[in-house]
Amino acid sequence: MHRDGEYEDEERIRQRKKKLEKALEVKPLRRIISAYLNYPDAAEEDVKRYERSFGKLSPAHKALLSHYPQKLERQRRCIATNAYFVVCMLQAFEPPLDMSQDMGNCEVPHLQCAPTDQRSSAPTSERTCHNNCPISEQAPLGEGTNEVQMDGLHDFGPESSPSSLEKMKEADKCGGDQVSFSHAWLDPSLQSHVPLVDVDTVRWIIRNIARDWAAEGQKERDQCHKPILDELSALFPHRSKGSSPSCLVPGAGLGRLAMEISCLGFVTQGCDFSYYMRICSSFVLNSTRTAGEWTVYPWIHSNCNSLSDSDQFRPVSFPDIHPARAGITEGFSMCGGDFVKVYSDPSHVGVWDAVVTCFFIDTARNIVEYIEIISRILKDGGVWINLGPLLYHFVGQEDEMSIELSLEDVKRVALHYGFQFEKEETIETTYSTNPQSMMQNRYFAAFWTARKVSSKEDAAH
Ligand SMILES: C[S@@+](CC[C@H](N)C(=O)[O-])C[C@H]1O[C@@H](n2cnc3c(N)ncnc32)[C@H](O)[C@@H]1O
Repeated sequence: MHRDGEYEDEERIRQRKKKLEKALEVKPLRRIISAYLNYPDAAEEDVKRYERSFGKLSPAHKALLSHYPQKLERQRRCIATNAYFVVCMLQAFEPPLDMSQDMGNCEVPHLQCAPTDQRSSAPTSERTCHNNCPISEQAPLGEGTNEVQMDGLHDFGPESSPSSLEKMKEADKCGGDQVSFSHAWLDPSLQSHVPLVDVDTVRWIIRNIARDWAAEGQKERDQCHKPILDELSALFPHRSKGSSPSCLVPGAGLGRLAMEISCLGFVTQGCDFSYYMRICSSFVLNSTRTAGEWTVYPWIHSNCNSLSDSDQFRPVSFPDIHPARAGITEGFSMCGGDFVKVYSDPSHVGVWDAVVTCFFIDTARNIVEYIEIISRILKDGGVWINLGPLLYHFVGQEDEMSIELSLEDVKRVALHYGFQFEKEETIETTYSTNPQSMMQNRYFAAFWTARKVSSKEDAAH
């Protein structure tokens, strides 16, 4: 029998463990927020580097490029506009964790070395998301609960003048446009410097906005999304209210494809484990108030392969469609979490009519596991529609498991898990590519529809 003191000890240990676990969950999120907030300063470092290079030119060469200093000033203004969007997006973000949790309180030294990369350490709370998760961070569509609290800043507008978040705060102090960092966890003084690779991800997100949510991405969406949407429409002709088929979109990125599928009449769930992506998709889906509300400059960070400076400094406005008025089917949700962890849960067995993977299956450490899970969560007779290459994400990473199969082997594994291929094509497409760039990487992506005809893997278990 326990004595009172022993109960107290156990309770204290339990509480301490819980606190440590929470702190571990907060750390990767804090790092991602820091990466977003570091964006303008890191970008400014780049511009300074360009200035230094320019400064090394001979007077004669400088004279030939007399417009160059103005070009760099223009680049600064574009960065400020991107930074403004980033701040507004962060303001609207409701962290699913208590951000006051701090690793500084961590008493167990080895836990302080926990991985901070979202890829290697999804917060534990993310692993429990189920079918009825609301759009990430609990803001229902169209209700405006995540209103941006920075009224007046719209006047900064395209190519506005402040070059960093600090300058934005200055504007506030000077009685100019209002900028208030409404969350303590957003205060720049609390942010840590993050590796440059993290800030690169922020730039990548800004480029992805063009792919998913700008008119400029329409061509790419026609290549990648349209074949999938056409296939879903043909395979599920009866999508009446009350008997909507269900569709899961793992690796949903910024959410456009998932939203389009929902608008077709499917009860749709997108899933993505990246907070970078989820902060942005949540903002566009939940917090945009009108089409074309926002402007970013997706291509400013690449000085290579531009036909002209104007091409590089091209703004895109977004969203090209206002999600709240797009015709989303009830039950649309975005789930934050690792596909493997979330959908291995027994509650997902045999529940989905369709699973759509677009540029996703090659994110696997173990693609066999992905296919096994896709098969398991589909109903018998359900369909898996895939479009994408096999550019394995963990290839060449020393400490990572990475199973890199050819398309032939991927299909063989799918057959093993009870899939029958009904359609197979190759689709030529780009991915987040600047359509005006002199370099256009093209994929010859595999596109297939495979039907789950039997539950072989269940029988084997
Ligand atoms: C190459 S992107 C494709 C995004 C989107 N489907 C598109 O076509 O634009 C892959 C996406 O999968 C997400 N992802 C990678 N591994 C994942 C996992 N294990 N669970 C959930 N999402 C994952 C990434 O965060 C990223 O958003």
